Amino acid sequence: MEKRILSGIKPSGDLNIGGYGGALSQFVKLQHDYQCYFFIPDLHAVTVPQPPEVLRRRTMDIAALYIAAGIDPRKSPIFLQSQVPAHAELGYLLQTVAVMGELGRMTQYKEKSEGQASVSSALFTYPVLMAADVLLYRSTHVPVGDDQLQHLELARDLARRFNQRFGVELFPAPEPIVQTIGSRIKGLDNPAAKMSKSNPNPNSCVMLMDEPDLIRRKFAKAVTDSEGLVRYDWERKPAVSNLIEIYEVFSGLSVEQIERRYEGSGYGLFKGELAEVVIGKLEPLQERYRAWIGTPELDAVLAEGAERAAAAAAPVIERAKQAMGFVRF
Ligand code: TYM
Repeated sequence: MEKRILSGIKPSGDLNIGGYGGALSQFVKLQHDYQCYFFIPDLHAVTVPQPPEVLRRRTMDIAALYIAAGIDPRKSPIFLQSQVPAHAELGYLLQTVAVMGELGRMTQYKEKSEGQASVSSALFTYPVLMAADVLLYRSTHVPVGDDQLQHLELARDLARRFNQRFGVELFPAPEPIVQTIGSRIKGLDNPAAKMSKSNPNPNSCVMLMDEPDLIRRKFAKAVTDSEGLVRYDWERKPAVSNLIEIYEVFSGLSVEQIERRYEGSGYGLFKGELAEVVIGKLEPLQERYRAWIGTPELDAVLAEGAERAAAAAAPVIERAKQAMGFVRF
């Protein structure tokens, strides 16, 4: 069976190195071995209120960053979710097989809705739309960071349930692809919480578009521990282990090589060189981003990507509707 991937990064905040480690750097590697579809899940972003101008800017930013990071749009379509209506359509169809109880158990829903005065119903059904994204391309694999595994498990359940209920072999149960290193990058201020677009502390996150000096300052301020040893041990040294993971993602060196390089040298040198390794990757990426953003070429990539995605999705949504008993003339 052909191996197919769909994955994407939501335009709900500016992109940080967490999304790079867990998702974008993987996309770039996987594009050669799979038929990939890389989309920008803008319909997901609006499950919490987004100022329209900001949504527009971030959507195009992520599209440009996909290309800047090295995704080749001639090989893998890049497109906006909102331009392929079949996502919302299959999302609705799958809502008829998903049940309230399983959606209420989703950790991200609980975290995002906690303490909020008003929560949109779309936030509740969000994981069903995500399942639709994946299943619409009959994806066999989905590269994600750690935090999306529960959502992917739901996608697998819904695929099986749909096939079984309607007696078809339409949807393969998609397998997650999670990197051992880089799939759970934590905040620089607190290694217990993931590095997140929604953390209000700007020093907790290194953004893909941060200037070199700011990156140096953020790493210099990153929390460590009092032991002074650059050693990988999540149980006892989570903050340092997190920095080692970031180092590995951006340098390609292994954990052992990094430990050996900083044996006996303390955190100052390690953090300083970590910043340079990250800057060394991000500066050329930022340059390519600037070459693409705001260009008609970028619009053309997205228009063509949407066409190719819609063509791939059309027979799948059609088969799903037929299986459910919708009449077609
Ligand atoms: P989102 O936009 O929150 O994150 C995009 C991807 O980046 C990963 N990620 C991280 N990985 C490691 N460390 C971190 N600190 C970190 N922060 C984010 C996420 O795991 C994710 O893989 N629901 C999805 C978007 C989505 C999607 C899909 C993904 C919608 N439909 C279909 C794959 C397939 C989300 O909110 O990711």
